[in-house]
Amino acid sequence: RPALLRTIPDVRQAVRAARQEAKRVALVPTMGYLHDGHLALVARAKEEADFVVVSIFVNPLQFGPSEDFASYPRDLDRDLGLLREQGLADAVFAPSVEEMYPQPIRTQVSLPTLSDRLCGRSRPGHFTGVATVVSKLFHIVQPDVACFGQKDGQQLAIIQRMVADLNLPIRIVGVPTVREPDGLAKSSRNVYLTPEEREHAVVLYRTLSWAKERILAGERRADVIRQGMRERIEADPVARLDYADLVSMPDLESIERIEGDIMLAVAAYFGKARLIDNFQMHVQ
Ligand code: PAJ
Repeated sequence: RPALLRTIPDVRQAVRAARQEAKRVALVPTMGYLHDGHLALVARAKEEADFVVVSIFVNPLQFGPSEDFASYPRDLDRDLGLLREQGLADAVFAPSVEEMYPQPIRTQVSLPTLSDRLCGRSRPGHFTGVATVVSKLFHIVQPDVACFGQKDGQQLAIIQRMVADLNLPIRIVGVPTVREPDGLAKSSRNVYLTPEEREHAVVLYRTLSWAKERILAGERRADVIRQGMRERIEADPVARLDYADLVSMPDLESIERIEGDIMLAVAAYFGKARLIDNFQMHVQ
């Protein structure tokens, strides 16, 4: 059963004790309401290290004023049950908002160009909130390794760049997206979907699959792919398109010709749920 730690001194002490036993430490940052995607990160973390800390913290800094901070699903008992069942996490760090932000935060970690594109356009300030809290968690836990999902491709690119720019001695591991049988990426926000919306949400995966096939068949014009992806999502009667884009990795630049490392990325609303998905490809 993982130890439940509520305060910064407690988690620091648990990590110090693990280090005294020469254990390597991994961190898996989450906002809870865990699903198989999160558990895949924990499993990978346990392969990379001996002592796995899972943080569960719904970070107010990364939610916009009209976003779902208040209604974001939370169930710590359920999360602890899932982690205990899996048997791989050694500690759960679940601080209160007051523990993390005892006073209004005046320091920001921001990566302007990377944060402004894709999800950053409809979520101004979001990635500054993410980079700031992840940087706090890194300083609190001081892990050797931290695992992030490829599902949040822009977030992963931003964390990788933050770690490189600031010389943080932490290895960032990207873990492949875990999906439902029909292809929908697992997400805590999937609980917002009505049965009808849930059926339509698979359009994101189908759109990415279509784009990947076109590229594998030889298409190299990025605009043709962008346009085709947009049309597919717009043709769905339930989805409301936010964006459908094709960018270079890891710089997230808009490109004209498809080559090298790229990311196909889509976002759309289904009722009140905003869902995202992406595929990463290496194109010769
Ligand atoms: P959250 O949405 O809870 O996701 C926590 C981690 O799980 C992220 O690294 C995310 O990419 C990964 N993840 C989510 N769904 C996944 C899936 N279907 N397959 C694989 N990995 C998946 O992302 C956040 O929280 C926050 O922004 C956080 C990094 C914790 C900072 O507050």
